[in-house]
Amino acid sequence: MKAIGVTREGDDVELLDVARPEPSEGEALVRTLRVGVDGTDHEVIAGSHGGYPEGAEHMILGHEAVGVVEDGNGSGLEAGQVVVPTVRRKPDGETNDYFRRGEPDMAPDGEYVERGIVGEHGFMAEYFTSPADNLVPIPDHLAEYGMLIEPVSIAEKANDHAFSTREPFEWRPEAACVLGNGSLGLLTLWMLGREFDRTYCVGRRDRPDPTIDVIDELGATYVDSRETPVDQLPDDHEAVDYVFEATGYAPHAVQTVDALAPNGVGALLGIPGPWEFEIDGGTFHKEIVLHNKCLIGTVNSHVKHFEAAVDTLDEMPQWLLDDLVTTVASPDSVDAAFEDDEDQIKAVVEFDTL
Ligand code: NAP
Ligand code: BGC
Ligand code: ZN
Repeated sequence: MKAIGVTREGDDVELLDVARPEPSEGEALVRTLRVGVDGTDHEVIAGSHGGYPEGAEHMILGHEAVGVVEDGNGSGLEAGQVVVPTVRRKPDGETNDYFRRGEPDMAPDGEYVERGIVGEHGFMAEYFTSPADNLVPIPDHLAEYGMLIEPVSIAEKANDHAFSTREPFEWRPEAACVLGNGSLGLLTLWMLGREFDRTYCVGRRDRPDPTIDVIDELGATYVDSRETPVDQLPDDHEAVDYVFEATGYAPHAVQTVDALAPNGVGALLGIPGPWEFEIDGGTFHKEIVLHNKCLIGTVNSHVKHFEAAVDTLDEMPQWLLDDLVTTVASPDSVDAAFEDDEDQIKAVVEFDTL
């Protein structure tokens, strides 16, 4: 079958011919419909994040997928059910408390694999297999954009964790800022627009630009970080109650603290490589303490977040989904989905339709 992946010898994404997987007991066979590409895939291709399955010469990419059950194989799922797979799995033959509790997203490095990212093949192939517990059923009408459920689940978890830190007191947030105008940032911007009076989104591009058009259309304010560095947000606009960092630009982790209003919270999601720079650690430390600020890191998501994301996707306006998915590539001309192109927001590889 056709699969899209990287090989140890190659330095780019390739169309591979691999054997169709056989479902083991308790696993369903899923026919892939669409698989999204995000910033993490580019980090994996560049070799700065993730790694190959043990002993394998190639890794099938793809962690944002939607498919349809081809063979339930006694797993409890019926053929024809549209499903979205979760990303984190138990390392072969092992388990740990995080998996036993259904919270694999909280497992530390080394105690999990991630399909298409860390140590296990992904979903960017005509078929994949998965235990039913890791397949979230979705209604047929969400199939076309079902590959967005995984990234939305990431934001569901981040927002849940961040807002939970403010629960011990009466928090009345008004303004939120998303750092990053990639697909994760823009999906989250829409989600935050439902809860905050004012939203901002930070990028580093000139108009005209399709991501800035989306920001405008959402009624958010575009902030160009070349003119207003994140720590100057309070001077040029206002201090915000919530920052959602989705750039992977390491200085943003530090600047977030200055962008926050007293009692605000920042969620960091980017995954930068090593990056040394100078900071005033004393002021950083004191600012967090004296203003009850909070910085959290958050990664991955579990079934509960996927289920919340199904409802969120269902509420997203059609124009937003259509504007975000700028590229639909076939496996035979997959390069189009991995181009470094500013007109591309979310690229997907389409293997089949319902
Ligand atoms: P993406 O498409 O690469 O988006 C990143 C965006 O940030 C780009 O639009 C980029 O702008 C912008 N950016 C980078 N540096 C900037 C700066 N200094 N000022 C303003 N804007 C800047 O990636 P994505 O898929 O949205 O994901 C975003 C990050 O989150 C990635 O690092 C990804 O690995 C990470 N991520 C983490 C999780 C998690 O579970 N923690 C989940 C998904 C993604 P240009 O395009 O103009 O360069
Ligand atoms: C994926 C997450 C994953 C994270 C770190 C993100 O792009 O969406 O599921 O945990 O990368 O590898
Ligand atoms: Zn991702």
